[in-house]
Amino acid sequence: MFILGGSASNGLDASVARLLNAKFGRVSVTNFPDGEMKVRMPDGYDGGDVVIVQSTYPPQDRNLFELILMADYFREVERSITAVVPYLGYARQDKSFIAGEAVSINTVLNMMAKAGVKNLITVNPHKIDSLKHFDGGVAVVNAVHSLTGLVKTELKKPLVMAPDIGGLELAKKAASEIGCEYTYIEKKRDNSGNVSIVKTHGGDFEGKDVVIFDDIISTGGTIDLAARFAYGEGAKTVSAAAVHLVMAQGAHERMAKAKVTRIFGTNTIPCAGAQVIDISAEIASSVEELLKGLHQGKL
Ligand code: R5P
Repeated sequence: MFILGGSASNGLDASVARLLNAKFGRVSVTNFPDGEMKVRMPDGYDGGDVVIVQSTYPPQDRNLFELILMADYFREVERSITAVVPYLGYARQDKSFIAGEAVSINTVLNMMAKAGVKNLITVNPHKIDSLKHFDGGVAVVNAVHSLTGLVKTELKKPLVMAPDIGGLELAKKAASEIGCEYTYIEKKRDNSGNVSIVKTHGGDFEGKDVVIFDDIISTGGTIDLAARFAYGEGAKTVSAAAVHLVMAQGAHERMAKAKVTRIFGTNTIPCAGAQVIDISAEIASSVEELLKGLHQGKL
């Protein structure tokens, strides 16, 4: 097995290779004067399975195309290719919310399969069902256990909160691992991306260290809304925990204004200003299992 790191692997490539005692090299990426990308494979590849580690966090399009170039290189030389994509970008556009919108996740999965990716490993994708569209083996790493391990040691009187119905299962699992209560709110997002609360579901917030669990923090709008609600209900402190810390468009500032005291996450995406847990061991186990023939992962 050869672990091939992309430029957006946030160090997970080297850690996974170390844990698996596998050969490792990182692709070299340069640009032509007009901005087009050129990738060159590292020395040291001597045949066998290739495991590419590359997230597709911002800039998503470049990181995705780099992944496609790497995969297609090895498809041409007829190697078995596994792609480890810790953060799978474009996963939130999993349907046409408005008529005419392209379903981006399907396109991304099609591109990977066409480029020769036979197996895909990702971490807490936005909706696991959307991966059914991938024409190959799939394994999903669930980072919630690691994330709750981090959160548990930091909060005295925790209350877990899901900021929308889609995050409820994640919040339930987190609350059961932490050993505390959970609650949730329901939100809606308008066409401009603004979020508002449509329904709340009670919960004893008074004096609690509320931790809002979500799969992803992007603009921070969802956490902002949930944090203000939690403080309004009597929370003592409010923290946010998410597997993928995209932190786009001033998310840190926005969450600071909403008095979110701590941010917890994983290292699927580089993120300053957060407490982050390394999930390379979970990814390494998944690679090992998948290559042994277990081609189906479950959350
Ligand atoms: C939505 O369904 C997701 O689970 C997240 O709640 C959402 O993507 C977060 O985005 P933002 O931080 O921009 O509100």
